[in-house]
Formats: sequence, structure tokens, C-alpha cells
Amino acid sequence: MKALVLSGGAGTRLRPFSYSMSKQLIPIANKPVLEHVLENIRELGVKDVGIIVGDRAAEISAVVGDGGRFGIRLTYIRQDRPRGLAHCVAIARDYLADDDFVMYLGDNMLPDGVRGVAEEFTARRPAAHLVVQRVPDARSFGVVETDTNGGVLRLVEKPSVPRSDLALVGVYFFTSAIHQAVTAIRPSSRGELEITDAVEWLVRQGAEVRATEYSGYWKDTGRVEDVLECNQQLLDKLKSSTAGDVDVGSELTGQVVVGPGARVVRSRIRGPVVIGAGTVVEDSQIGPYVSVGRDCVLRDSGLSHSIVLDGASVSQVSGLHLSVIGRSAIVRATGSGQHRLVVGDHTRVEVVA
Ligand code: TTP
Repeated sequence: MKALVLSGGAGTRLRPFSYSMSKQLIPIANKPVLEHVLENIRELGVKDVGIIVGDRAAEISAVVGDGGRFGIRLTYIRQDRPRGLAHCVAIARDYLADDDFVMYLGDNMLPDGVRGVAEEFTARRPAAHLVVQRVPDARSFGVVETDTNGGVLRLVEKPSVPRSDLALVGVYFFTSAIHQAVTAIRPSSRGELEITDAVEWLVRQGAEVRATEYSGYWKDTGRVEDVLECNQQLLDKLKSSTAGDVDVGSELTGQVVVGPGARVVRSRIRGPVVIGAGTVVEDSQIGPYVSVGRDCVLRDSGLSHSIVLDGASVSQVSGLHLSVIGRSAIVRATGSGQHRLVVGDHTRVEVVA
């Protein structure tokens, strides 16, 4: 079996971060989403992985390279612009040849892995094997209707009135039967080749399409709220380790990771918290549920349930909560009694009234 990881796309819902970085490289518990994805694929025993990339190909290859670090062989496949998930399958046709493959959305997190579904697929080899999960409101998802034996009867993309609460998770198993389906469909009203249309085509042709309800944790990290929630979920599994310096004036409680070369001075850290390499935390209260990247500076500040990306600095600002601070961003108090904001496009700032 091969894998196809989708790591292009526009990422409009993750602005402003997606203006300057690939959304698949957003860190969750200080590790890019894409690395979590590649590790899950390796766990399936899959070694050959095609990766769809768009304009940010160079940034992605600088992080994951040829895949050797993960024990896989990565082949980059360039998509000229986001033309839909089924378009990704079409342009990977030569790479995939007639092999079975798992298609994995590069912004989807399934920390519990998908080994169980992979085994079901391999044992029975239906034309498509989908992963689904019940959601309270299915209107923003691909929605699947199944019979009592897990056979798929119907799929609809983002229906206004969903006929089931089973949402499509971003992991799909296919045999080579999918290739005929993606050539048979036409672009949808939003101009994309939809994978749901391709799978629905298989169902209508009488091919076997199955779905397994996934009981593990799943999060599509498409929006900032999702990234924060997922960060919290992963930090719950954190195990303490200290490779940096913690002075005697600091107090660490719960699970706390202090990266190499990081310094914690006169601060209270309430885990779970991960502090990246080279970061300095001084006279601050951090946690719970905070991930701080590399080479950041947090001084006289208070921060909980938040993510700070590499190189950012926060000084003399307390009460930061559910915040995401971008790479090399500066957040500091003015001391003048007035707010001063230099804020980029599609940024959100919420201050105490
Ligand atoms: P989506 O989240 O559906 O699309 P998007 O990345 O364009 O995001 P937004 O809706 O916020 O604009 O994409 C799911 C995954 O598939 C994601 O990792 C990006 C990737 N993708 C491609 O690689 N090529 C494509 O043509 C599309 C549509 C998505």
C-alpha cells in the first residue's frame, strides 16, 4: 500500500497564519501537523508516500525533506492551484500506479492512529473504505449514509439538511478503482473536483464502498479554534522532561517539558506546558495547556490555553488566554494607558473592555 498526503490547499480559514506559512506546518504540542500525519502513516507500515504540494512546496520540503527522518520515502507532486481533493488523486495517477493507497488530508489529526481501519480495508479490499465520525452538526462536512453492515449508500458534500450525523474524516482507503471515478466526474459548483463525487460515482456503479465509525480523537485543524483544541488534547498526554535550565526561584507543577537551551527564571509553570529550545521565560505564569515554540521570550507575562510560535516575544502582558501568537510577533505593554496595534490582514485582536 502507498499513501497520498494532501498538503496543498488555500487555507483561507486559517488566516492570518496561512498568509505566511503552510497550514500543515502549524505546530500542535510543538510538532507540525504534517509530522504527526507522516508518523501515523509510517505506523501503518507504509513506506512510499506521495505528497501533494502547492505554492509552499519549498517550505514543506525544508521541514520534512525526503521523509528519511520518518522512515518513509516522500515523492513531491506539484498541484498548480487548489482544484479539489479528487484532482489530487488525478495528478498522482502515475505515482500511485495500480496500488492500493491511503489518502490522508495533511491538516487532519488522528493521534490514536488508523491501524484498525487499515486492517479492515486490507482484509476485504472494497473499492473505497471511508472513515466517519458522528458530529453534532454535519452541515460543514461530507456526510455519509450507511446501511446496518457498514455499506455506504450515499455521500453528500456539505448538505444544508444532513440526512445522517456521520461526517467524513480526512482519511480514505482506495483501490485503483478510484482512478476511473475521478476521470468520470466534473467540477462541482465551487469549481473543485470533489472526492465525495468520485466515491458517490463508485457507489452508483455498484462498487463496494464501506465506512468505519472512528472512535478515537479526530480534529481537522482548519481553523484557529481547532488548532487550540487539538493542542490541548495532545498536551494531555505530555510527559515531563527537562533539557534546559530551571532556576530555584521557579515552580513547575504537572507535566512540563523544557527544551534544550531553554531557561525558566522566577516563574510558575503549571502543566501541561511545553517550552521549546532556546526560549526564555522570566517572571511569568505559564499554563495550563500552553505550547511555546523555539527561541521565544516570555517576560513578566501570564498565558494559558495558548500557542506561541517560534521567535515570538511577550512582555508585561498578563491574562492572555486562548491566544495564538505568530512567528516572531511582538506583544508587549505600552505603559501609556493606550492600546497600540500593528495588526495584519484577517487578524483578530480581543482586548479587555
Ligand atoms: P481543505 O481544508 O478542504 O481546503 P483548504 O486547505 O483550501 O482550506 P480552506 O477551506 O480553509 O481554504 O483541504 C483539506 C486538505 O487537503 C488540506 O491539507 C489541503 C489539501 N488540499 C490540497 O492539497 N489540494 C486541494 O486542491 C485542496 C482543495 C486541498
